[in-house]
Amino acid sequence: MTARSHEVAVAGDAPYTIHIGADLLGDGALLARSLRGRDVMLVSDRNVAPLYADRVAAALQAARPEAQVHRHVLPAGEAAKTLAHFAEVTTALAEARMRRDATLFALGGGVIGDLAGFAAACWMRGIDCVQLPTTLLAMVDSSVGGKTAVDLPQGKNLVGAFHPPRAVIADTAALRTLPPRELRAGLAEVVKYGALGDADFLDWLDDHADALLAMDDAALAEAIARSCAHKAAIVARDPFEHGERALLNLGHTFGHAIETEQGYDGLNHGEAVAVGMVLAAQLSEVLGLAPAADTARLRALLQRLGLPVALPSGLDPDRLLAHMRLDKKAQADGLRFIVWDGIGRARVLAGVPEAAVLDVLGR
Ligand code: NAD
Ligand code: GLY
Repeated sequence: MTARSHEVAVAGDAPYTIHIGADLLGDGALLARSLRGRDVMLVSDRNVAPLYADRVAAALQAARPEAQVHRHVLPAGEAAKTLAHFAEVTTALAEARMRRDATLFALGGGVIGDLAGFAAACWMRGIDCVQLPTTLLAMVDSSVGGKTAVDLPQGKNLVGAFHPPRAVIADTAALRTLPPRELRAGLAEVVKYGALGDADFLDWLDDHADALLAMDDAALAEAIARSCAHKAAIVARDPFEHGERALLNLGHTFGHAIETEQGYDGLNHGEAVAVGMVLAAQLSEVLGLAPAADTARLRALLQRLGLPVALPSGLDPDRLLAHMRLDKKAQADGLRFIVWDGIGRARVLAGVPEAAVLDVLGR
């Protein structure tokens, strides 16, 4: 297969385009298209900045010589997605004297996209944010849809805002430097779109698993474009998660509890979601909603993609349950989960008995 560029439009009150293709981080005209003023804050992390920040800054400056490109580089990884680092970015925006027409470029994975996007949402009550995702996970999920946040020790993404990006520019060539573990983590979120609403896409993933793991450019570009099209359609219909957008959290109630309990230093987000999706499928089985064969099929695909499919040992079910009670999906009527009636047929279920959850967690 040969790679080609894709564009996915995200409709809504503030529509934008997701650009997907090789070498887009060097496309100065595309990068500069989003600038309102001349001030840019490029936020990245210590792994990504040395690889790509110079390229982005040079391309921007070549296309727009008057642009003032400032940089702020954070530590890498989930443990850095904190209020303290959020405050650090806002201080950098203040020191650089960024005005309302400034643009923040979030160059990195979902951690940088969420944290820097939240800083853009808050700085002067909202400046433009261009998402430059460099992980597969960020390209297929976190850069799209405008959810921004930081974590607290008590739970994932508890402090945040909806702030849609002005554009998403996904340079698939950046995936060449991505550690294999992070590529696999992104594939978990790709599988999620098939699992929640597109059984044909799961068939496609089964057929292309080897190509994806081998980083075949065309297979990756198609997986990214199909995932973005799914996400774009859902967030256009339900930007603030009043309804169907919650389906995008398939596996996340379990996954977030695992990440929180492990102090954001165990499974990464995609891995936790992989385990969480299997647990959500098992919960659906325990509740008599879905056949065991569908759980087995999901588990087999995730395993083939090199992802974990069972709870890491040593996690206490009662502590995981306690984290789930603070999950954003929990409401006064008790625990809400994304369950499924089978592959491609996810739905929200409120009032899930805690005993059923503990059963799945193995207590
Ligand atoms: P991440 O941002 O921590 O990136 C993973 C690792 O890869 C980091 O060490 C990073 O430095 C490194 N890296 C990134 N790009 C690289 C590249 N091209 N080459 C080499 N190294 C590179 O993690 P992630 O998996 O991208 O994102 C996970 C985060 O996304 C979680 O915090 C999760 O909550 C969030 N998320 C948000 C949404 C949303 O809708 N906002 C959706 C899904 C996930
Ligand atoms: N990743 C969940 C969402 O964007 O809604």
